[in-house]
Amino acid sequence: MAKHKVTVVGAGFVGATAAQRIVEKQLADVVLIDIVEGMPQGKALDMMQSAAVEGFDTKIIGTNNYEDTANSDIFVVTAGIARKPGMSRDDLLNTNAKIVGSVVEQATKYSPNAIFVIVSNPLDVMTHLAWQKSGLPSKKVFGMAGVLDSSRYACFIAEALNCSIKDVRAMVLGGHGDTMVPVPQFSTVNGITITELLPAEKIEEINNRTKHGGAEIVKFLKTGSAFYAPSSSAVAMVEAIVLDSKRILPVCALCNGEYGIDNLYCGVPVALGANGIESIIELNLNESEKKSLQSSAQAVQTVVDKLALTVG
Ligand code: APR
Repeated sequence: MAKHKVTVVGAGFVGATAAQRIVEKQLADVVLIDIVEGMPQGKALDMMQSAAVEGFDTKIIGTNNYEDTANSDIFVVTAGIARKPGMSRDDLLNTNAKIVGSVVEQATKYSPNAIFVIVSNPLDVMTHLAWQKSGLPSKKVFGMAGVLDSSRYACFIAEALNCSIKDVRAMVLGGHGDTMVPVPQFSTVNGITITELLPAEKIEEINNRTKHGGAEIVKFLKTGSAFYAPSSSAVAMVEAIVLDSKRILPVCALCNGEYGIDNLYCGVPVALGANGIESIIELNLNESEKKSLQSSAQAVQTVVDKLALTVG
């Protein structure tokens, strides 16, 4: 048995791919749970039958029953509906709020001390809701978005510079939507900030493509949204927790005054380890970055307020 138990809720595109990556990397044993009967069981069995070829000793089971998730260390919540062309992440609000709320209630019943990595959209608001429903300290409930948005940013930077992606470190803060804030001064190629390597117009172009990176994929897929990079990003967070590596990653975390944001979930850099969020890191942003982060937080707040009106 692996040392850790991770439950992935939602066995759709993001969930099943995340589960696959976790067992293949041998990070933890995995429980894959969904409301659709038979589907998580079938996918889990299929993954187990790849173990001999891929060479992993971690185990995965599929289920529709929360009793099987008991004593999980981490829940990765991907349950909910995905976007279709023309939809914003906020259009998923009411449907996914009901789903995420019930998932967290059931999950905490059998694993009262687990860490929650939320992936369902609209991300920042679903994370806020999950925290409220869980009754857990905020360092144990956070969302996956910054790693994904930064990974998209890194991809476009490497493409523009024709350099190795391995040397690129990119930073995107703020809410997981059109208002997200790519931060060029903290985005580097092996320590060299991209403002020294790319003209301002090119950086602006890459920033915009990053902000609409998810929509670009939805437009191609037509029937759903991205899942390879989202699952990779969620698993990077699981890895930091399981290995207690204290990696510095942009994560959707509850801010209590940091960056002038109060009592609101928003994408900020954190150190991630065995306890969840070990600390929030405050970067010295310039005036325009500060302003952009403030308006991104304001956009998240508007949706939080909308949800408060809907679910009481
Ligand atoms: N409990 C468990 N699973 C659920 C529940 C629930 N209450 N409600 C729905 N699901 C499952 C669905 O049955 C489906 O298998 O969630 C899964 C979602 O999978 P997909 O439709 O393939 O969506 P996916 O692309 O994985 O996206 C999931 O992540 O990135 C976000 O915006 C995206 O909110 C969406 C979520």
